[in-house]
Amino acid sequence: MNILAELKNRFRDVLAEVSGETDVQNLLDMIKPAQDARFGDYQANCAMPLGKRLGKPPREVAEEISNKVRLDDLCSQTDIAGPGFINLTIDDRWITSQVNTARKESRLGVAVNANPQTFILDYSSPNVAKPMHVGHIRSTVIGDSLARTLRFLGHQVIADNHLGDWGTQFGMIIYGYKHFVNAEAYQQHEVRELSRLYRLVNQLIDYWKSKGGVAAQQEEIARRETVVSELETVEPSGDKKEDKKHRKALGRARDQLTQACQVLESLKAKIQTVENDEVLLQQAQAHPEIARNALLETAQLHEGDATNRQLWEEFLPKCREDIQRVYARLSVEFDVEYGESFYHEMLPGVVSGLQEAGLASESEGAQCVFLDDFETPMIVQKSDGAFLYATTDLATIEYRMQQWQADEILYVVDHRQSEHFQKLFAVANAWNAPQVQMHHISFGTVLDESGRPYKTRSGDAVGLEGLLDEAVNKAYEVVSANDDSKPNGSELSEEMRRHIADVVGHGAIKYADLSHNRTSDYVFSYDKMMALEGNTATYMQYSYARVQSIFRKGDVDLDALRQSESAILLGHAAERALAMMILRYSEALEQVVEDYRPNQLTNYLFDLAKRFSSFFEQCPVLKSEDEAIKQSRLKLCDLTGRVIAHGLDLLGIGVVDQM
Ligand code: ARG
Repeated sequence: MNILAELKNRFRDVLAEVSGETDVQNLLDMIKPAQDARFGDYQANCAMPLGKRLGKPPREVAEEISNKVRLDDLCSQTDIAGPGFINLTIDDRWITSQVNTARKESRLGVAVNANPQTFILDYSSPNVAKPMHVGHIRSTVIGDSLARTLRFLGHQVIADNHLGDWGTQFGMIIYGYKHFVNAEAYQQHEVRELSRLYRLVNQLIDYWKSKGGVAAQQEEIARRETVVSELETVEPSGDKKEDKKHRKALGRARDQLTQACQVLESLKAKIQTVENDEVLLQQAQAHPEIARNALLETAQLHEGDATNRQLWEEFLPKCREDIQRVYARLSVEFDVEYGESFYHEMLPGVVSGLQEAGLASESEGAQCVFLDDFETPMIVQKSDGAFLYATTDLATIEYRMQQWQADEILYVVDHRQSEHFQKLFAVANAWNAPQVQMHHISFGTVLDESGRPYKTRSGDAVGLEGLLDEAVNKAYEVVSANDDSKPNGSELSEEMRRHIADVVGHGAIKYADLSHNRTSDYVFSYDKMMALEGNTATYMQYSYARVQSIFRKGDVDLDALRQSESAILLGHAAERALAMMILRYSEALEQVVEDYRPNQLTNYLFDLAKRFSSFFEQCPVLKSEDEAIKQSRLKLCDLTGRVIAHGLDLLGIGVVDQM
């Protein structure tokens, strides 16, 4: 049962009657959990705006609403406070009965959605020709937890890993393979050699690009210097406002100059790294056209060139296997993994379809869709005949609609692609998918402690597997230190420590990511994510293990406890507060899917764990005053543990019985 939804149901008609409006959603949105327990459990704040609209004192409106709404069975108290807040206190008997029902259900009181939808979730979707790095973690874990949550709520979910298996990266490794492969290394470990080739080709392309960019950047700096020196010669006018404006402009111009110098420095650094290395320099000089030629390799692959096609067929399964290992470690699964190559044959049809619909037209030799709200068109075919990322995405939508009749498609992709998706949705809605709702589930960047995108010292983005290994190693230290410091000596075998470190390490990485509002950047810190106190997976796993340790200590037969009919009693305020939070699980899950934000669930779990901790401090369990209370508290502990484990599972995170 979702209490908030139930309250809204009961207010809906009354609000319509009092306001005289048919759509009262904006008023219903003002019914919320109370921030402070002194104001009850929930608060309805709709009387204030309504009073204004009706020209009546809000308190009077609040009285009218509260007299009309039927809450006798649900609320023990409705108070009108301040200018017209309606404070609602849920009836203890009602909480007791709900919590006793939830205890008996595997769904823990969460109802199945009465109007299930079909969702396609497009997440992870790495370009497989290069190793996965820290940036991929976000799409993978956010997508996975949304898929799990939507499924649990009763929706049909198709998890689609839209692999980049057909783009320019393949041209790059094909070029690298043809010119630079170390046969022995390739034989020993294909993927490692391919990723070396990818990095090498990338570096050489960058070298030539940087060399070509230096002169232009120097001109840019000269221009910026002129602007700065001109601004510097301006004498103060004496007018405060004018002078402030001038100082600001000068500051801005200096910043821009600094930035331009930094860009030049980074170009020079890229050039230097190559020129300091004799072998690299030779390779670079032997391949001055590498950028163009790598693109040509991609074009030839797309045109069906036999050699390139054969190389692609050789590389692809190996790259996929490599990525699969990461998914296995993260317990992430997909229903389909067609990848971009699957849609290749459909691309000419997309362009002709768009032309027939009058949407695509030729511009400078390319096929473009011009859109009202955008400065630049969406290009669907270049003048050389090549199709683009967007063309494939349109074909993918076509396929998804035919295959699954999707109601919603969610793309979990980083914020830099937001313009691509805005255009894509506009074109698809105008063309082949007018009905479907599409959302870009955008997310920010993973940063290091100095606020720059997270990278290793050598400058490569951290490989994802290395990152996971490091997390597990750190978790092992945390787990061992915790175990070593137990008052009666350590309890865990080496094997158990390793297993726990595995669950804790992977959990910490996922939770750290999911607990941040997805649209913000976040700072990656092993220490923070594995803290035993605070909003971390470790704390949540620890709370779960604490419950299990109570059962061990009290020699509790868990099956018998769950079978037993005696009810949970809520005599103590901390018990009531804990039970209330347990009942809000369903609300938290609805919030997750409302705006696709898993941090709503981590916030909830953190609140739940805090209430559990305060219950545990105030209410003895094994030593409670009588047997009925002891049984009741054990049940409350069990239910809390189950909700924590269930919530963590929806985040893709495991639990252990002992830590
Ligand atoms: N492979 C792309 C990248 O790494 C992400 C694909 C996202 N999904 C999509 N349907 N465009 O940037």
